[in-house]
Amino acid sequence: MFDTMTVTKAGGALCGALLIFLLGNWAAESLYHTGAESHGDEEVAQAYTIDTGASEGGEAAAAEEGPSFDELFAAADAGAGEKVFGKCKACHKTDGSNGTGPHLDGVVDRAVGSVAGFSYSDAMGSHGGTWAPAELDAFLANPKGAVPGTKMSFAGLPKAEDRVNLIAYLQSLGG
Ligand code: HEC
Repeated sequence: MFDTMTVTKAGGALCGALLIFLLGNWAAESLYHTGAESHGDEEVAQAYTIDTGASEGGEAAAAEEGPSFDELFAAADAGAGEKVFGKCKACHKTDGSNGTGPHLDGVVDRAVGSVAGFSYSDAMGSHGGTWAPAELDAFLANPKGAVPGTKMSFAGLPKAEDRVNLIAYLQSLGG
């Protein structure tokens, strides 16, 4: 019934199809491979990353090759910082009482995670150190990057000027 040629052709076609399937599979996997196998993580890995400019502390720092923090802070404007604080008001008060977040009056040079009666995340509670201006700057640039596991749901302030102005404002509030 089948001559050798037909069998050979059919076999060849089958092998070709298999090869294309395997190649396609491999290409698809390498295209969509995300590098993270577990999907239980809070941060779901993405096939591609949208650069928001605020996500990586390192990138932001690399992009800002301008004046140093000390130089910027020396020229900071507390009045302008009061406006920036509008972004924090939903969660933070400055009258000594706590809201969603701990009160921020006197936060500059205060021990991290030290407000009595506020229930901090483990990450913040066990962080240690003090909120020196430069520490606050790093935290406000990228809260979840500076204190991984913090429960402060705030994306960060990408602009260095906004951060120094805000820190100057917080400092002006005193304790
Ligand atoms: C959506 C609510 C929310 C917003 C908006 C927010 N925070 Fe927070 N913040 C929190 C919470 C909650 C914590 C406690 C974090 C923890 O325990 O991990 C916190 C903690 C902090 C701390 C640490 C305080 C301490 O006692 O150690 C600082 C500093 C801070 N926030 C500053 C700011 C500033 C400045 C802004 C505005 C640019 C801001 N936050 C915006 C909720 C918020």
